[in-house]
Formats: sequence, structure tokens, C-alpha cells
Amino acid sequence: MIKRCTLRDHDGWLPLRAALWPDSAADSDPDKHTILSEPERYLVLTFTNKDGKALGFAEASIRADYVNGTNSSPVAFLEGLYVQPANRGQGIARQLVVGVQRWAEEMGCAELASDALLDNQASHAMHKALGFVETERVVYFLKALGG
Ligand SMILES: CC(C)(COP(=O)(O)OP(=O)(O)OC[C@H]1O[C@@H](n2cnc3c(N)ncnc32)[C@H](O)[C@@H]1OP(=O)(O)O)[C@@H](O)C(=O)NCCC(=O)NCCS
Repeated sequence: MIKRCTLRDHDGWLPLRAALWPDSAADSDPDKHTILSEPERYLVLTFTNKDGKALGFAEASIRADYVNGTNSSPVAFLEGLYVQPANRGQGIARQLVVGVQRWAEEMGCAELASDALLDNQASHAMHKALGFVETERVVYFLKALGG
């Protein structure tokens, strides 16, 4: 079952989030309040089994700044997608992305964008299987200032 997380009910989301992004805390994540307090801007979905256990999640946002490869603005952006290793290959990510897509359409967006690290071949294959088309490959750079 796909469930939208709210401030009152987000069971299982934060531990999954910490599994995808280890730098984010599993319990007292400050992002939690920001994300769940702005339902017009952010979406958090979990996939739960029949016992109510969260097995995967998706996060999406509405981005009004320029997003590489897009042709419209604002666009919806798939910020994160994760399924527990033991539950992969069962169509859970597919269902989560369908949920994100529905929300994006309800929010009036004409495009859903996403990204993946260059070496995450599984994610590239999944995006293609789910109907995404590759647009650009980007390398980020950084220069420390003030030293
Ligand atoms: C990528 C990930 C979310 C896929 O979740 P999943 O629930 O196993 O994916 P699904 O079973 O819904 O598969 C959806 C489609 O993608 C394809 N796919 C999924 N994982 C794949 C893989 N490792 N290699 C090739 N294709 C894959 C499936 O074949 C399926 O297509 P199909 O329906 O035409 O067969 C999951 O492996 C994961 O959490 N990985 C670690 C985190 C990550 O990389 N997230 C993406 C960051 S951008």
C-alpha cells in the first residue's frame, strides 16, 4: 500500500531515509518538520506491507529554479527513492513513482525530473524502465573560498 506521510503519521520513513542518506539522522531529523510541513512543495510516500511495515519510500518536490534537461517550470523532482534490499525486484519502486507522478500532475506540473549518480547503473536502468529519458550528464565542482 502507498501512504502519504504527514507530521502525525510518518512511521518507518526516517529509518529508510537514513538508509539511503546515512548523513540524515534516523530519529530527530530537522528536515522532517520542513518537509512534512509544506505539502504544497514536498511529497513523502512510503510503501507499507499488510502489517503496516514501511519497505520503501519516495520523496519529491516542486522545483521552481532551473532543472537540468527540463522544458518547463516549475517541475516535479524525484528527490529520493529507496526500497529495502530484501524487498527489491517486486515493483515497489514502480508503485512509488506512479504515486509521485499522480501528485506531480495534480500539482499542475508537465514534467517529472530526477537524477542519479553516474555509477548507479541500477538506478539508470530503473529510471528507463519507468519511462524516464536520460537528458544530461553533469559533473559538479567546488572551490573552497576564504583560505
Ligand atoms: C533502485 C531501487 C529503488 C529499485 O527498487 P525496486 O523496488 O527493486 O524496483 P522495481 O521492482 O519497482 O523495478 C522497477 C523497474 O526497474 C527495473 N529495475 C529495478 N532495479 C533494477 C536493477 N537493479 N537493474 C535493472 N533494472 C532494474 C525493474 O526491472 C523494473 O522494470 P520492469 O517492471 O520493466 O521489470 C532499489 O534498488 C534501491 O532502493 N536502490 C538503492 C537506492 C537507489 O539507488 N535509489 C535510486 C537513487 S536515484
